[in-house]
Amino acid sequence: MEIKGSVILVTGGSSGIGLETAIRLSKKGASVIITGRNEEKLTSVSEKYGIISFRADSGKESDVLDLFQQIEEKFGRLDAVINNAGYGYFESLVNSDKSKFEAVFNTNVTGAMLVAREAAKIFIRQQSGNIINIASTAAYRGFEGGTAYSATKFALRAMTECWRAELRKYNIRVVLINPSEVQTDFIPNSGRQERPFNESKLVSSDIAGTIICALELPDRAFITELTVFATNPKD
Ligand SMILES: NC(=O)c1ccc[n+]([C@@H]2O[C@H](COP(=O)([O-])OP(=O)(O)OC[C@H]3O[C@@H](n4cnc5c(N)ncnc54)[C@H](OP(=O)(O)O)[C@@H]3O)[C@@H](O)[C@H]2O)c1
Repeated sequence: MEIKGSVILVTGGSSGIGLETAIRLSKKGASVIITGRNEEKLTSVSEKYGIISFRADSGKESDVLDLFQQIEEKFGRLDAVINNAGYGYFESLVNSDKSKFEAVFNTNVTGAMLVAREAAKIFIRQQSGNIINIASTAAYRGFEGGTAYSATKFALRAMTECWRAELRKYNIRVVLINPSEVQTDFIPNSGRQERPFNESKLVSSDIAGTIICALELPDRAFITELTVFATNPKD
């Protein structure tokens, strides 16, 4: 697709991978809308980069419906959604908390579905569109403490395959991107010990570049899935 002149929604665009993607898309001439739950973070990004922001919790259906109503009213169309909003909950099985387990599913799985559902309605009408789901290498493997997070990303991968099967006939590309560890606020936000910056490990711009590469492919072709590792993370 041609990014210049397009309208693109980036959920969870107020920090990390989403923010870097929104900045790059905006620099390439797209009208970008970012979402997040924290109004202050959104306002500061809007002021700094001139990107439109909308406070919306992906896991709240009323927020998602309001968001799409605003997009319809302001733009009347949408070319791509980067389904990126998400966070980690890492805990051993025996210490897993039911409400925290359900909350992370509500954002990473239900939220991704609600956003994709509303976007797909527009895309089917237009007979074109792109859904880029940001999963993880955890969508393919379990690990200690990964019960909740891995399960959400396995589920996102499963939904990606279902949506691809349903939507391809409307010229809609549904792409899965699986980053390995990326140095963002994701680690401290999920309560894990932050480690010193390692220049050999992935950063947000590596994933933003991957997303843009998938989007910029001509519409007749699409990459179904991309997994991104650090070449030599050295630990
Ligand atoms: N960093 C990694 O190592 C890594 C690796 C693989 C995959 N990923 C995936 O990449 C995506 C982005 O993560 P990141 O590393 O960029 O983390 P981040 O810097 O913590 O950014 C997460 C973004 O999502 C937003 N968000 C979280 N829950 C939300 C909700 N319910 N509704 C709307 N927005 C929400 C956050 O804003 P608010 O808190 O204000 O809502 C923030 O803008 C996530 O899906 C994550 O699972 C990350």
